[in-house]
Amino acid sequence: MPDSLASFAPKLILWQRANGRHGLPWQGTRDPYRVWLSEIMLQQTQVATVLGYYDRFLQHFPGVGALAAAAPDEVMALWSGLGYYSRARNLHRCAQVVATQYGGVFPSSAAALQTLPGIGASTAAAIAAFCHGERVSIVDGNVRRVLSRLLAFEGDLSLSVHQRALWDMAQRLLPASPSHEDMVAYTQGLMDLGAGVCARTRPRCEVCPAQALCQAQRSGTVDRYPLKSRKLLRRHESWWLQVLRRAMPGGEQGVWLERRPASGIWAGLHCAPVFASEAQAFALPLKNDWKTQPLPVVVHHLTHRELRLHPLLVDLPPGHALPQDAEGQWVALDALDRVGMPAPLRSLLNRLPE
Ligand code: ADE
Repeated sequence: MPDSLASFAPKLILWQRANGRHGLPWQGTRDPYRVWLSEIMLQQTQVATVLGYYDRFLQHFPGVGALAAAAPDEVMALWSGLGYYSRARNLHRCAQVVATQYGGVFPSSAAALQTLPGIGASTAAAIAAFCHGERVSIVDGNVRRVLSRLLAFEGDLSLSVHQRALWDMAQRLLPASPSHEDMVAYTQGLMDLGAGVCARTRPRCEVCPAQALCQAQRSGTVDRYPLKSRKLLRRHESWWLQVLRRAMPGGEQGVWLERRPASGIWAGLHCAPVFASEAQAFALPLKNDWKTQPLPVVVHHLTHRELRLHPLLVDLPPGHALPQDAEGQWVALDALDRVGMPAPLRSLLNRLPE
């Protein structure tokens, strides 16, 4: 890494103080609960949307103990509309772990924070830097774009080896011996640069504090970074599968299968009910007291796209009938061989947990 990049951190800190975002409700605090909540909400959602949800959430659950003690439905109701509902389930689980295993106090280091449900490496770094001034770098999607342009980074970021290399660079770019305030400004500066200046399309290089240092800007190749890999170029689609399971009249376990439409993916095959979103898969007719467990995502490659299957296993009471208008059949798990179904579904159904 060129020596000149040592000036990146001081430049970014000065720029953030003068031109970055200030006064957001989660900025004036070092309370890990508040910072954690904001970072989880902001993971896949714009600041403007988060603002209202954040305040309402804090009014209902002013601290981690109140959130841990809440009913799951109450948490879901307050999250409703923010999307990516696994965030809300992990949020609740995380609060319960902090309440029961950490005496209601979030651990302070990024390394320890990362072990908690729903907290990945970048979120852990953000909390540790904002609340404790830890010298650790965030590297979320926006920051990857900023750094890959700054460094003209040629690695394919769909591969973990290159993600790791970029993370190492991010650590080397950190200010040399920062105060707590420096780490706050630096971390917020990375976020502000990624959100408002070093945008994916039409970046505003003329106002960037790192313009003179940016290797992509120097060679006129800002649009080239981050590199698009073959893997990233492949189109993908997510399906949520409701795997409804119940005991059959003979006592053996069975699953509910419906026939796919006559055209499109898996035309005419038997399949678990498919939904286009997680919220729909969780919606009625599922009853609250039925046991539901999300199973690991199955990635299935079709010719020109990647299908990500998100199975949701639901155990129904024995003998439970589906609504009259549901078109399909209960098939015993040991009779699956007799029905035509897509291979990834067959292997999923053959490996269901107890
Ligand atoms: N996106 C993720 N974290 C953020 C923060 N703390 N402020 C603004 N945008 C963000």
